[in-house]
Amino acid sequence: MTAMTEEIHKLSERFLKMYPVKDVDLKPIINNLSKLDYDDSMEYQEKLLRSTVDHPIVQKYPPTISYCQRFLKRLITEIEDINLEVFDGLYEAYTNLLSQENRNTLNCGNISYCYKTYCLAPELTITLKETRSIISEGTTGMFTWQASHVLADWCQKEAARLNGKNVLELGAGLGLTGLTVIKTCNPASYTFTDLHTSVLKTLKENILINLCNGSIPESTEELTDGFKIPYENTRVSVERLDWTSDHVHSSYDVVLAADVVYDTEIISPLVLILKEALGKSDGATAYVASTIRNRDTFNCFRNTLVSNNMKIKLESRHTYQESPSQPESTIIIMQLML
Ligand SMILES: C[S@@+](CC[C@H](N)C(=O)[O-])C[C@H]1O[C@@H](n2cnc3c(N)ncnc32)[C@H](O)[C@@H]1O
Repeated sequence: MTAMTEEIHKLSERFLKMYPVKDVDLKPIINNLSKLDYDDSMEYQEKLLRSTVDHPIVQKYPPTISYCQRFLKRLITEIEDINLEVFDGLYEAYTNLLSQENRNTLNCGNISYCYKTYCLAPELTITLKETRSIISEGTTGMFTWQASHVLADWCQKEAARLNGKNVLELGAGLGLTGLTVIKTCNPASYTFTDLHTSVLKTLKENILINLCNGSIPESTEELTDGFKIPYENTRVSVERLDWTSDHVHSSYDVVLAADVVYDTEIISPLVLILKEALGKSDGATAYVASTIRNRDTFNCFRNTLVSNNMKIKLESRHTYQESPSQPESTIIIMQLML
């Protein structure tokens, strides 16, 4: 890949995951454009359009219209600012988006959804239907949290720990960690669980988008509270599991959870369900990724684990910053065993 194409590729990845427009660094792109003659500049701008607003993924799974508008507006303005001719296709795309201003194809009741596509490795993209707000319908589960990115990344690097294993995920949310594990770690089975009805519904849609090209395969078993599909060597299922009232009935080798430690009221049921899940199989191990927001909440989790005689090991510590305007956070992954 040439350096110029590399910059388009980077921009494309950021656009697809709805990276904050104000933080997108357009300098390298504008610098490239300033060195090109007219024809090459038009061709480069056309490639920019095809890699962002007109990307094949965006045709099917678009970010919000307002995001696309703000992105194009900034790109066009920066090109105009150095007195370069703007490719007509960019203006046309922008005008077209303005005419759709009041239409958000993904409005459902009071909630507006968008699609975000995460490019996690050269051959690995995951597209998720999400809400833009961190809390919708009274749940935090309709948004992909930082700890889930960190855990997904860690699982890819530690794929051997998940290969051939039966994996349970608690508080799975929209599925980023699980879909990454299924696509890269070859588990024998992967059971996504959560409690919230809308989260479970959107999670199933996300599984179909990423594992079945968006449609329901004939092999799907629709159960009252879940569903089951095969994907390559992995049996994939979704189940409702409320830590405060349900029990784990099957045995698992590995339990995963991302960003489930945030409310002291649910720490006790969370620890008890972790203990129950680990108790079903000798040597079972849990990996819990937590963003450290409040020391007291985190200490409460650790103390509850200790008082339940669970073995705790700090697996890894990460700093995460989505973009320069976002705060930096600390995320740790703990290994838990009985
Ligand atoms: C902050 S979100 C994290 C979602 C996802 N793991 C991520 O990191 O993007 C917490 C998740 O825990 C789920 N949750 C909260 N309380 C629960 C309970 N009592 N039983 C099961 N899941 C619960 C929520 O529905 C939500 O999906």
